[in-house]
Amino acid sequence: MPKLPKFLQFASITKKITLALIGLFLMLFLLTHLGINLCLLRNDGGEWFRAAAHFMGTNYIVKVFEVVLFGAIALHILLALTIQIHNWRARPVGYASGSKSKTAFGSKLMIWSGLLVALFLCIHLVNFWFAKVGWNEGRYLIKVSAIEKAYKVKQQALSDAFIKTETDEERMQIEADFVAFQDGLEFFQTNEKLSDALHGGFDYITDLSKAEIREITAVLPVKYEPDFYVMVRDLFQNKWIVLMYLFFLTALCFHLMHAFQSAFQTLGMAHSKYTPIIKVVGVIFALGVSVGFAIIPIFFYFCK
Ligand code: HEM
Repeated sequence: MPKLPKFLQFASITKKITLALIGLFLMLFLLTHLGINLCLLRNDGGEWFRAAAHFMGTNYIVKVFEVVLFGAIALHILLALTIQIHNWRARPVGYASGSKSKTAFGSKLMIWSGLLVALFLCIHLVNFWFAKVGWNEGRYLIKVSAIEKAYKVKQQALSDAFIKTETDEERMQIEADFVAFQDGLEFFQTNEKLSDALHGGFDYITDLSKAEIREITAVLPVKYEPDFYVMVRDLFQNKWIVLMYLFFLTALCFHLMHAFQSAFQTLGMAHSKYTPIIKVVGVIFALGVSVGFAIIPIFFYFCK
């Protein structure tokens, strides 16, 4: 058998324990992700969801967490594949008598349901996360308070520069910059979406295209972020995408159903008293998470 990379050469049980611990961590992520996503269902035009997404997108601890999360997902997949390939090589003709047991069937499904979840993650990241890192074009939003702040900073910078001018030439240049700045601001008044948000007392200017973002940032260097509410709403108008999500969420349900119980078993919690409880909690968790996520595409397809 060819040798594994050095960092994966630790004992099989250590691999399994690491896999189980990462799995439990990923389940916690799923619960958090579901909690935030359920805000999408609130009838508030996306206010709660945008506030949560803004926090998740700007908080530094969350940013570090995101790196840890991606590392955990990669390691989880790598360890699962390593263990599975090792098992296949060790038992090329399959199980002898145990193959018909429910557990053996459940474990066999794990790798395939897991691979489907991994495929789902790739598609899902392209749908949303790519827009955040700029690899895909999405829809965007700008906080009105960020525009007000950027406006004050720019105005202050121009008046500071004006005070510091020494020659007529410099003064004329700043005056020209100031006029250009005022002309640029015209755009905020003439663009319906912008002026509505600025005068209507809204917190955000939403559903902006990349072209609109370019026009705005040419006048004011203001921070913008993806408008995930609009992106979710638009994505789930497509029947095929909704069906695809439901298919993958079914795979996730199968994966979690076995994973929950299997993780606790690996961590040594197999006990005649607790195992049945763990199994029931696992089924409730798997169904709760999958159905919880599935409601979102269905809701947006039929109700938005
Ligand atoms: C169908 C319901 C779902 C919706 C509406 C949804 C929505 C989103 C959105 C808007 C983002 C971008 C957030 C950001 O980058 O700040 C995101 C990221 C992500 N989603 Fe989902 N998601 C759903 C289901 C899932 C499921 C079932 C999984 C896991 C199996 C998952 C895993 C992830 C991961 C790993 C990220 C990137 C990490 C992050 O940025 O938080 N999502 N999702």
